[in-house]
Formats: sequence, structure tokens, C-alpha cells
Amino acid sequence: MTVQNDYRQNTNVVQINVDEKAPFVVFMSVIITLTHILIGAIAFNAIFFVNIFDIRSSFEQHVYLCVIGYILLMSQAILSMNPYASWAKVLSYENKKMIHWLMQILGSVLAIAGSIVKLVDGVPNFRSAHGILGTVAMLFTIASLISGIVNLFSMNFSNNINIIKIVHSVLGALALSVAYLSLCFAFHDVYRVVYGNNNANLSIILTIVTLIGVLTSSCINTVRRILP
Ligand code: HEM
Repeated sequence: MTVQNDYRQNTNVVQINVDEKAPFVVFMSVIITLTHILIGAIAFNAIFFVNIFDIRSSFEQHVYLCVIGYILLMSQAILSMNPYASWAKVLSYENKKMIHWLMQILGSVLAIAGSIVKLVDGVPNFRSAHGILGTVAMLFTIASLISGIVNLFSMNFSNNINIIKIVHSVLGALALSVAYLSLCFAFHDVYRVVYGNNNANLSIILTIVTLIGVLTSSCINTVRRILP
């Protein structure tokens, strides 16, 4: 059954369609709203942590760049393509795509720069799960960026555009998942020493819940593309 509500305000008439999918739409909107709050919470948490050291160092640059790149920009870039994401709901598909591109490129550049800053600062590398996963996330980010550019330029030519889109989505999801896991290990190893077990465990749980919130809809879309 479809119920239509006419909502008159001055001379504008806005029609709101409420159909059988309404509970699902409400559910997805709540998930997205919670995800936005959590993205802000974990980004603030990491930046607040690094600020207590009060020294300008590669460590500080690393945390700012990786957190802004991966957690703020790349997560929002994925959410911008979500049909239930509040701020992007009013945009046309073409505009959403452009915003997605801009945020992905900027986020990836900052995230890659943040990883390189720490890789070349003279401290021995690949000695922790955080460092190894962070480097793998950087490699996936570079691959995702390249697949995104291939996706963009093959729009008009390729018959296999669906495959390119799937590869791009899978690489992007892998890059973000491994980056979030790396952040979990940063909370586990580094943050725990300063803020203790309770705060570190809470930060890890919130990071995992945020990742699930960011990736849910993108995974549903990818599965829909793969299934006939
Ligand atoms: C999504 C966010 C983050 C990513 C993807 C990331 C990635 C990386 C990468 C690629 C390295 C260099 C690898 C190496 O030297 O072995 C690294 C090192 C490091 N990061 Fe991060 N990082 C992130 C956030 C953080 C945060 C929030 C902290 C602090 C709480 C932190 C603390 C460190 C430290 C102390 C090192 C050097 C020692 C080590 O490898 O553990 N990182 N990170």
C-alpha cells in the first residue's frame, strides 16, 4: 500500500511517499546517523590523544593525516554514495559521484602522505601489527585510486564496466577495512599505555562498529551487482 502526504508550505508542494519499505528506510537512516556520530567520535579520540604530547613531530603529522584521510574523508566518501545518507540524499546521482570522487582523491592523498611520513622518519618499520596493517592499507588505497581512475575513463568505452566497478568497490572496502583494523591496533598498543584498558577497549569496539556502519550499504550494493 502507498500513502501519499501532501505537505504544503507557501506555494511549494512536497510529496512524501511512505510505502512498505518505510521501516527499512528508517532503520538505514538511524544506522547512518549513528555512523556519522561514531566517525566524529573516533577521529576526535585519536586527534585528542596525539595532542597531549604537545610536540610537533612526524607522529603528530601521521595521526592527523591518516585520521582525516581515512576516517573522516574516505568514510564520508563511501557514505556519500549511500541512498540513505542524510546530507547526500538531496543530490543528483551525478553530483553525488563528483563529491565521492573529490573526497576519495583528497582522502587517499592525505592518508598515503600520513603513512609515508611515518615510514620514512627513521624509526624501524614493520615491527607492529599496526605498522604492517597500515602499510597494507596504503597499498590497497593506491590500488583503489588507480582502479577508480580506470573506472572513470572506461565509462564510455568498456562493456565490462560492472566488473571494473566491482573491483573498485572491493579494493576501496579492503583499503578502509585494513586502515580501521590498523587504527584498532594503534588504540590497542599505543593509546592503551596512556589511557588504560577501559578507554582502549571502548575505542576499539567503537572503531569496529563504525566500520560496519560505513561498509554495510556499499557491501549490499556490491552483492546486488554480482548477483544476477
Ligand atoms: C587509520 C589510521 C592510521 C593508519 C592507517 C596508520 C598507518 C601507519 C603506518 C603505515 C605506519 C608506518 C609503518 C611502520 O613504520 O611500520 C604507522 C606507524 C605508526 N603509527 Fe599509525 N596509522 C594510523 C593512526 C595512528 C594513530 C591514531 C596512532 C596513535 C594512537 C598511530 C601511531 C603510530 C605509531 C606509534 C607508529 C610507529 C610504530 C609502529 O609501527 O607501531 N597511528 N602507522
